[in-house]
Amino acid sequence: MKNRNVIIGLAIFVVLITIPFWYGAGKESKAPELSLDTPAIQALDEKKCIEDTEFMRSNHMELLNDWKVQVVREGNRIYVAEDGKEYLMSLQNTCLECHSNKEEFCDACHDYSGVEPNCWTCHVEPEEVK
Ligand code: HEC
Ligand code: HEC
Ligand code: HEC
Repeated sequence: MKNRNVIIGLAIFVVLITIPFWYGAGKESKAPELSLDTPAIQALDEKKCIEDTEFMRSNHMELLNDWKVQVVREGNRIYVAEDGKEYLMSLQNTCLECHSNKEEFCDACHDYSGVEPNCWTCHVEPEEVK
């Protein structure tokens, strides 16, 4: 009887410590495919975002938040990028003008990362343009 309990205990222990493995099984860990194939991006001479890609990847949330504060509190609508180019600080008319394939770009990455920005409860979700 005592031995049996030890074996059951061991079995449970083994299952518990391997849970992270079972969780990961079958899931792809590679990054999602992000499509840059939109009319506005096709039309660019230089396929570049507002700031460099690395910066955009890790800081677009803060950038958007700054934009919102600038527009709503400061009444300033023009953003001057590192390279001197000027952009209208607008989620719809700037970000989603180029990234008009929101589902295959923003959403693809957010779904993968488990992030759900609530912006589109107020901001109009543009019609997909691909
Ligand atoms: C003028 C067109 C344009 C505008 C405006 C623009 N983007 Fe981009 N964005 C691009 C292009 C082109 C790339 C790909 C650059 C590359 O491949 O290096 C990109 C890349 C990115 C990336 C990195 C993707 C990756 O590969 O990890 C993010 C995130 C991003 N953009 C978000 C935004 C957000 C948020 C806004 C608005 C604040 C915005 N973009 C505005 C054209 C634009
Ligand atoms: C390369 C992957 C990637 C792409 C592409 C991307 N995002 Fe994100 N985004 C993230 C990640 C990861 C987070 C969460 C970051 C965190 O919580 O620190 C995030 C967070 C955000 C947030 C903040 C959400 C919140 O509730 O705080 C906003 C807003 C946002 N993204 C907008 C956009 C928009 C708009 C686009 C498309 C133009 C876009 N993102 C494209 C990866 C991406
Ligand atoms: C409760 C409603 C609401 C939510 C949710 C919301 N916004 Fe806004 N946002 C507004 C309003 C209202 C304005 C002011 C519009 C104007 O003056 O052009 C604004 C303005 C902005 C602006 C500058 C103007 C423009 O046209 O884009 C940005 C950038 C912005 N919001 C980003 C975001 C992001 C990113 C999120 C999600 C993390 C978000 N907002 C969520 C209501 C909201």
